[in-house]
Amino acid sequence: MESERTLVLIKPDGVNRRLSGEIISRFERKGLKIVALKLLKLDRAQAEKHYSVHRDKPFFGELVQYITSSPIIAMVLEGRNCITTVRTLCGATDGSKAAPGTIRGDFSNSIQNNIVHASDSDESYRHEVSIYFNENEILTYQIAGENLI
Ligand code: CMP
Repeated sequence: MESERTLVLIKPDGVNRRLSGEIISRFERKGLKIVALKLLKLDRAQAEKHYSVHRDKPFFGELVQYITSSPIIAMVLEGRNCITTVRTLCGATDGSKAAPGTIRGDFSNSIQNNIVHASDSDESYRHEVSIYFNENEILTYQIAGENLI
């Protein structure tokens, strides 16, 4: 499996609860590489675009309200089998059902306020990443010791 990229958000509850360092650290320790990162506040149009597949769901309005309520951190991670690996580290969507040891299992007991978002496919990544980053903000570089991971 060659190197992949995925988009991760630390959502308003993760940032407000000062869990950003803990969450980023989990991805780093797994051996994934941060190739883009920023703190931003999503506007309504960006949030509606990000979650457009959920437009018809009953929770859509509340989800957009939540994700735009205060700053989030967006990042692009890179690594082997990255999309699946990151979703495994995040755990099940519903924090009350997520396994202990996962980010949601350890820090969330909510289905909406579930700390992180991670792309579920390469197609989703491509849709999502353009909302947060220009191509020139996603860096290609070597980390010392990368061959050991
Ligand atoms: P995320 O992985 O960002 O993808 C869609 C988001 O919608 C999900 O995390 C939750 O924050 C939210 N969500 C999913 N299902 C529900 C639900 N049944 N009720 C409220 N929010 C939900």
